[in-house]
Amino acid sequence: MSDVMVAAAKTPGPVIRAENVDHYYEGQSGWIHALSDLNLEIPPKEFLCVIGPSGCGKSTFLKIVAGLVQQSSGKVLLNGAPIAGPGPDRGIVFQEPALFAWRTVLGNVEFGLQMQKIPKAEAKRRAQSILEIVGLGHVMNLYPYQLSGGMRHRVAVARAWALPNADLLLMDEPFSAIDAINRMTLQDYLVDTWTRERRTVLYVTHDIDEAVYLADRILLMRPSPGRIGRFFPVDIPRPRDRNSVEFNALKMQITEEMHRFADPSDEAAHASQEVIA
Ligand SMILES: Nc1ncnc2c1ncn2[C@@H]1O[C@H](COP(=O)(O)OP(=O)(O)OP(=O)(O)O)[C@@H](O)[C@H]1O
Ligand SMILES: [Mg+2]
Repeated sequence: MSDVMVAAAKTPGPVIRAENVDHYYEGQSGWIHALSDLNLEIPPKEFLCVIGPSGCGKSTFLKIVAGLVQQSSGKVLLNGAPIAGPGPDRGIVFQEPALFAWRTVLGNVEFGLQMQKIPKAEAKRRAQSILEIVGLGHVMNLYPYQLSGGMRHRVAVARAWALPNADLLLMDEPFSAIDAINRMTLQDYLVDTWTRERRTVLYVTHDIDEAVYLADRILLMRPSPGRIGRFFPVDIPRPRDRNSVEFNALKMQITEEMHRFADPSDEAAHASQEVIA
């Protein structure tokens, strides 16, 4: 093997590669252009947060990657192969935690593992250890109705995280229905879990503070039609201090950029669209 081939074999490609993705939905009064010419790559183990105003296509992109929606045109590759549908290689957490009411907390987390034919004892051990990490070790035998809202969200995250083959986690505003204090606690559990066992994460939020707290990189999308606005790397060491100057400077920068994108008269904002080759 030549040196070039060895180097290529050692360098893993992106987990996700989107090329010229457009998506249209059929609305009541015509077609809705939800995504326009989306180009991006997500490298392995990156925590990418996608933010942007309501309706800019964040969930649409996540659903395309999840295999729940097929893009109208363009390509989306998962580890180099086109996405054909949902699969056990992707864990998904939506805004509303969809738990099985008739299964205990442990049973909910074990379920996905059992579906993947993981031996019972191993599934139990893994589910228990993830539940301990997210602070639910003491409620493993309770049922979802016996938990608080924040706890239910933690179960949903633990369930996605427990899947051993899910190298990619897709989260669509998983904590947006939670009050501010509990949301911060959940964010800390998430950072802790991710730091112990790194996965590639695509995390949709409209909360700039949350994005700066969690992400390696932030994609700010622009609306009408939904498209790439700008990428912001977050080079702040974890755990991040929300009161630090750098944290707040980045938040401010993103907020200003978001307002600029919303202002149709701002030519500079409209010329600054970043395209990843
Ligand atoms: N199933 C659907 N049928 C028709 N239009 C849809 C459908 N899903 C989304 N849309 C439209 O596509 C656009 C993008 O929606 P999407 O849900 O991706 O936005 P979003 O950025 O996730 O918004 P939010 O922050 O409110 O969750 C919106 O105009 C929305 O109304
Ligand atoms: Mg959405």
